[in-house]
Amino acid sequence: MSIFLDVLRSEGLAHLSYILGQGREAVVIDPRRDIGAYLDIADRRSMRITRIFETHRNEDYVIGSMELARATQARIYHGHAFAFAYGEPVQEGDSFDLGSLRLEILETPGHTDESISIVVKDTDFGNEPVAVFTGDTLFVGDVGRTDFFPDRKEEVAGLLYDSIFGKLLELGDQTIIYPAHGAGSVCGSGMADREFSTIGYERRNNRSLQVQDRQAFIRKKVAEHHYQSPYFRKMEEFNMNGTALDVGVVRPPPRWPRTISNLPWTPACRSLTAGCLKHLPEPSFRAAWPFPYH
Ligand SMILES: [Fe+2]
Repeated sequence: MSIFLDVLRSEGLAHLSYILGQGREAVVIDPRRDIGAYLDIADRRSMRITRIFETHRNEDYVIGSMELARATQARIYHGHAFAFAYGEPVQEGDSFDLGSLRLEILETPGHTDESISIVVKDTDFGNEPVAVFTGDTLFVGDVGRTDFFPDRKEEVAGLLYDSIFGKLLELGDQTIIYPAHGAGSVCGSGMADREFSTIGYERRNNRSLQVQDRQAFIRKKVAEHHYQSPYFRKMEEFNMNGTALDVGVVRPPPRWPRTISNLPWTPACRSLTAGCLKHLPEPSFRAAWPFPYH
């Protein structure tokens, strides 16, 4: 039975989500809220989406797990270190079979405490990892930001070091990485424009990994400054508690046209469609506009 992996990009947010399947079954990693693309892919391949994995709570967009679960009856899984109001917690060593593939959970805290990575093995060929979904722990060309816990700056930077050097790099140079963001994301800086890489390539070329030791890595991370969009806290809240909002019926508040009157609005954008979102200039604005986050 052939195995497929599709990457879905949310332009502007530089968010990457994935649908991986074999036989009649597929899983989705970090779904966005407009879930039609996943459903179309599954339909086209006569597959059922049975599981949804969240690599972490996410702060720059509202995740679509609940919408997708509602549409497919798939089960939602995320790390156990945060108390989510929905889904099921997983921990290191948990594994899930998908045809001949085995998905194994690695706890990789640092960016957030409950961050997980999902290791993919092909049991037809042995026990060596083929790939790993790294969430916001390891990107192509960078690592995740660690500034979400100002009182624990050094501690969480150290956790990220341990997750990357002690776990992800140990998967072996052959392992392909699939992160949750690409270049242009506010979740890191210095990411490569390229969306494909391996552990071995990152080990040798990722600038954030070219450090002498753990302390040097911590010093580097603590000295970084990243943009904190005001809507992050609201997105985190939605992603922890779930939301009943359906993106398909969200309409802008009455004050909104005034707010965006100076934006490069086009005649094609008379309704709120994905095609119209690309005309909005700033990633964080695009992600936040439907929500009264102030
Ligand atoms: Fe993140």
